[in-house]
Amino acid sequence: MTTQPRLFSGMQPSASSLHIGNYIGALVQWRDMQKTHDAIFCVVDLHALTVPQEPERLREQIRRTAAQYITAGIDPTESTLFVQSHVPAHAELAWVLNTITGFGEASRMTQFKDKASRQGADAASLGLFAYPTLMAADILLYGTNHVPVGDDQKQHVELTRDLANRFNSRFGDTLVVPEPVILKEGARIYDLQNPEVKMSKSAANQNGVVFLLDEPSRTAKKIKSAVTDTGREVRFDRGEKPGVSNLLTILSSFGGQSVAELETAYEGRGYGDLKKDVADAVVSVFEPIRSRALALLEDPTELDRILADSADRAGVIAETTLAAVYDRIGLLPRTRR
Ligand code: TRP
Repeated sequence: MTTQPRLFSGMQPSASSLHIGNYIGALVQWRDMQKTHDAIFCVVDLHALTVPQEPERLREQIRRTAAQYITAGIDPTESTLFVQSHVPAHAELAWVLNTITGFGEASRMTQFKDKASRQGADAASLGLFAYPTLMAADILLYGTNHVPVGDDQKQHVELTRDLANRFNSRFGDTLVVPEPVILKEGARIYDLQNPEVKMSKSAANQNGVVFLLDEPSRTAKKIKSAVTDTGREVRFDRGEKPGVSNLLTILSSFGGQSVAELETAYEGRGYGDLKKDVADAVVSVFEPIRSRALALLEDPTELDRILADSADRAGVIAETTLAAVYDRIGLLPRTRR
């Protein structure tokens, strides 16, 4: 019996490789939290459907996402790592939550407003509108205490709390009210070619984005051609020296030395030395993760088994919560006497 708090987080299978930003900004922190939590991680494939997807590509991305999380340190013997669509209760609880969510309330979600305005009101689907209630279902099915997410997801976790409280006060205590755990801002990684913007897979110039599954030589090349700043001093200053500051953040994250220690270590040395060291540090961490992920994907039998076992474990918990919810709201159980 575990007494650790329950953690739940999800990641969309929206790219064929994670990048340094996802790695430092989320994955490393999740990996560390496994030790203090009863952790459940979910590849949220149903969420990915809220924007158009190409079927064969989506299927591949779901596997690739799971493989990278495993080889980067999400241990499937210690944590549960499963695919959302393998546990039907997610879609089922989401439906119930839709019925207690206000139209206006959902309309105020800033991510929906952003995405809908980018797609045009007619292109945005009902699924996109209901994205936050599906996310609430993910969290609430598992009696989750802590939800580690980026700042941009905080509003969705707040909505989840509101829905849990609303359900409990209408139908009696059923759902655990979760807390958001906001991932470290200091771990934010910027685009190597455009260090004013956050690193993103959708950047127009892919040379600024270092992917976990890039070949090591490609990774080194991208880092060595990172945009730096005029001057030659290696110093952390986001305003004046965004490029150098970003490299220092990356090196600090990969090598374990603080930015201040690095500043001292690079006194009197130039950007060339810094870039070489960043490239070496990133390659030495990513290379083994990459080769193990590619090996898992080469023959996905083992990966599929891990995901199926995890979905079995998750399904038992989720079904219990869903049954309690259905009972509270007055649905008839399917029984034969
Ligand atoms: N919406 C989250 C994101 O884009 C992904 C997600 C889906 C999630 N369900 C979740 C995160 C449940 C935490 C908990 O990052």
